[in-house]
Amino acid sequence: MLDAPSETTPDMMPPSVAPPGRPFSLLETVRASRRNVLEIIPALSYRQPMVSGRLGARWHMVQDPGALARIFLENVDNYPKAEVMIRMLRPAVGNSLFTSDGEAWRWQRRTVAPVFAQRNVVALAPLMTATAERAAARLAGQAPEAEMVGEMLSATFDVICEVALSGREHFDAETYGRAIVRYFETVGKASLLDFLQMPDWMPRPGALLGRGSVRTMHGMVARAIEARREAGGSGVDDLLDHMLKAEDPETGRRMSPIELLHNMQFFIVAGHETTALALAWSLLLLAMDGQAQARARAEAQAALGGSAAGADNLAAMPYVRQVIEEAMRLYPPVGLIARTARTADVLAGRDVKAKDTVFIPIYALHRHEMWWENPNGFDPTRFAPAASATRNRFLYLPFGAGPRVCVGANFAMMQAQIILATLLARFRFDLGDRPLPVPTMLMTLRPEGGVWLRAQPL
Ligand code: HEM
Repeated sequence: MLDAPSETTPDMMPPSVAPPGRPFSLLETVRASRRNVLEIIPALSYRQPMVSGRLGARWHMVQDPGALARIFLENVDNYPKAEVMIRMLRPAVGNSLFTSDGEAWRWQRRTVAPVFAQRNVVALAPLMTATAERAAARLAGQAPEAEMVGEMLSATFDVICEVALSGREHFDAETYGRAIVRYFETVGKASLLDFLQMPDWMPRPGALLGRGSVRTMHGMVARAIEARREAGGSGVDDLLDHMLKAEDPETGRRMSPIELLHNMQFFIVAGHETTALALAWSLLLLAMDGQAQARARAEAQAALGGSAAGADNLAAMPYVRQVIEEAMRLYPPVGLIARTARTADVLAGRDVKAKDTVFIPIYALHRHEMWWENPNGFDPTRFAPAASATRNRFLYLPFGAGPRVCVGANFAMMQAQIILATLLARFRFDLGDRPLPVPTMLMTLRPEGGVWLRAQPL
């Protein structure tokens, strides 16, 4: 069948969030941040290198690449993760790699990094290919319109169950999925107490409400780990096998059962939610841009023929990768990061005092007028190899940077490319009649209202 470009309105811009025209009061900020964190990013953050203010405590929003290099790399020890972010995660993932600091972080990073080495990730690709095949089959069985966030969450959850737990034997995906949503809606929302930098011992209402969801998630992961220990291995050397064997190359230290539980729990949530969002946004953008979709499809079909994508095909599909990179520029799944300054410092020529909160609004950095041409427009050629090679490293941060850069970035990119290429080779995606979703960030940047697309089998 001929792959005619879908009809799109040439001036249709990808959905974005209008920044507040004036600074918010403390209460307005708390309310907005519980509804959509993107609403607290002021208009100036899209135009200036750094914006500062005071809301209870002093805060800065940093969009300057030199200052970002200082925060993430040169003076990284001065900028530990802000307590407000850690507090939202700790009930679920304890002091695991993502949430720990100092020596507790260092030894876990040394231990976990080899688990995600490229050769281990490549070895997991066949499992990703099989899940992409299942995702395509599921989509083919849908009514003309399908909600792509849900579809992509099923696909990436399928991947993480396969590669982290070898299947769903101990996992009722729906129960676990519901627990994650409940968690984000309770513990995952900042409270007024956080903004006022109230001490930790004051209980946050959300944390209490989220206890049941934590019990559900932990119980399921713990059972899966226990079953694996008893079985003595999965036979395919998956992530859990590697984590059970992992030891600190410097000290030989291994993870305790609780450390293992917390890290696996983090991988399961981080490993599927963020990647599913990158995929859903990619599909939306392609449905809005028929030419880009036709180009990506032509590339995928030429590389794959009738097969689902595997690790060996990725080098032949650079444009598919560029689409995902551009989707994560416009909609970085982690759209805002917060750090706290340990001691006084100077960023972009401005004084930062000890205990100031330093926000890195990745969403605004990626749409910044000084760094991007037509910042709100979709153009995957921005990530053509020559353009990416000359761009300042600190202007594009979907996975963070420096020593705390995402440990699962290779894994995420591989599964995203395998799933997207497989679907594009087999379906044409068009917008339905529903309104476009609104970018909404709580812990991750989700398309509120869903991504409803017509997926027509080819
Ligand atoms: C598109 C998908 C993903 C995105 C956008 C993403 C984004 C990020 C970002 C921005 C950070 C740094 C946070 C900070 O500096 O405050 C991070 C760290 C981390 N990510 Fe990812 N991530 C993704 C997928 C994954 C996957 C698949 C895994 C594991 C299975 C994972 C595990 C981690 C861990 C453990 C850290 C903490 C690393 C450390 O502090 O040493 N992520 N991720």
